[in-house]
Amino acid sequence: MAEVVHADQRPWAHLVQQVLLVRLQEVMWVLFALVVGGKHPVMRKGAHVSTVQLSSQATEAPPARATVADTLRIGASVFVPTLARGVLARRPRLVSLAEAIQADRGAGRLLQRLRARYGPGPLRLAVPGRSFALLLSAHDVERVLTGSPEPFAIASKEKRAAVGHFQPHGVLASRGEERADRRRFNETVLDTAHPVHRHADALLRKVRQEADALVDAVALAGRLDWADFRMAWWRMIRRVVLGDAARDDSEVSDLLTTLRMNSNWAFAHPKRAGVRAEFLRRVRRYLADPEPGSLAGLMAAAPASEITDPEDQVPQWLFAYESTALAAFRTLALLASHPEHFEQARREAGTGDDDLPYLRACVQESVRLWPTTMTILRDATRPTEWAGQALPAGTGFLIHTPFLQRDDETLPYADEFRPGIWLDGTAEHDWAVVPFSGGPGECPGRNLSLLSASHFLAALLRAYDLRQDAGLRPSADRPLPRTLSPFRLGFDARPRDTRGGDEG
Ligand code: HEM
Repeated sequence: MAEVVHADQRPWAHLVQQVLLVRLQEVMWVLFALVVGGKHPVMRKGAHVSTVQLSSQATEAPPARATVADTLRIGASVFVPTLARGVLARRPRLVSLAEAIQADRGAGRLLQRLRARYGPGPLRLAVPGRSFALLLSAHDVERVLTGSPEPFAIASKEKRAAVGHFQPHGVLASRGEERADRRRFNETVLDTAHPVHRHADALLRKVRQEADALVDAVALAGRLDWADFRMAWWRMIRRVVLGDAARDDSEVSDLLTTLRMNSNWAFAHPKRAGVRAEFLRRVRRYLADPEPGSLAGLMAAAPASEITDPEDQVPQWLFAYESTALAAFRTLALLASHPEHFEQARREAGTGDDDLPYLRACVQESVRLWPTTMTILRDATRPTEWAGQALPAGTGFLIHTPFLQRDDETLPYADEFRPGIWLDGTAEHDWAVVPFSGGPGECPGRNLSLLSASHFLAALLRAYDLRQDAGLRPSADRPLPRTLSPFRLGFDARPRDTRGGDEG
């Protein structure tokens, strides 16, 4: 999407600043990646090197302090690649670079080595001026996530700085009474508790229509690539969230993307009040005349107080729905490379049911394998005790999901496509597997996101046999790649004889 330039900035100065910032981050990362990434051994299938079941570890281990050198290694191998790819808006070129060097594999191996050296307790990083602790065990993840928002605040310092660019009053950035109020509002509109949203009829009509429009477009091209998928997906998002009148308002999506690109820099980028004002002006237009079958319509009917700020909850829904697109597109690569799962998903797609548990499980596997929220953050509001040792108030806890969810020392299915773990309770009970977070801060849009994705994908599976013909190809015979760019994936789409209603 093109960057939108507005009157509140000097275009050349801004352009120069953007280019310099992006270049600086790229160069830093490439250097680090070459030094650190190149050293890691090639992954072998079934290389479950340890017998220690840390994932289910029941007791608390004490914190340890990483040396400055190890902290730098973690920064270079884990956090620079994560930040460089873009936390709130992905940078496709850097995602491709991360894929080329399999950045998450290197990071995973490093964290396993450090855990062996320091133990599985929180690993304190040697960062001047701020206490950070990296969590290395499922036990500690459970403690921190179930202990949110007190004493582990969900709206961490860095998160507030980042999302403050586009939703300063969104639930994600809120604390205390405001958080409780806005969380309730989000849960009501998104119908958090139910796999099938209470207004699924109206919402799924939009999903199916946009998926069918994509099916028609693919018929002409004979191929499905990211650009077409994304465009169709955004039309669906705008209709579901803002109503049918917003279907072709790509400007509202572009404005949000601009704000998210800035928010990737958190504190380091000035806020762009003009862009935000124009974005909000457009959103307000749809909220002022809310369409009953959309989330805007449900917002109008949901109880709100003077502190709710309903319109500031909307940006999160729009952008989080885009993350769902990344997960859904990668799901197609998984299905195309695992024919037996493809057939099972297609059979389910033909049932006409609202709930499609198998397809939901496939999408959840996609976010386990390639999480869209790579680091979950919490800030301690008071000192906390860990196996007899204290960590100070203000400690930032870091849960790095690409490591924990692919930890082949603890998860027997780490590098395989196993949708079954989402159906038999395995994933739900393992605190190492938290692509939607967990506890009171768990993603309130999880069910709606999975409902939408499963139906969108179902339309494609009913219509086509898909063969991946571009991008890194996952295979059922090898460990799945730790890093997979969705932007380079492409599929050859052969029409099937029937369209819908068949049993595959
Ligand atoms: C693949 C799709 C998605 C994934 C993997 C995902 C994951 C997450 C994660 C990890 C968090 C952070 C929670 C934390 O800090 O502990 C979160 C928060 C949130 N998500 Fe999602 N999400 C997805 C889609 C959606 C969608 C489609 C919506 C809304 C339509 C949504 C709404 C929210 C909201 C409102 C929050 C803030 C919750 C809070 O702070 O209490 N998400 N999501």
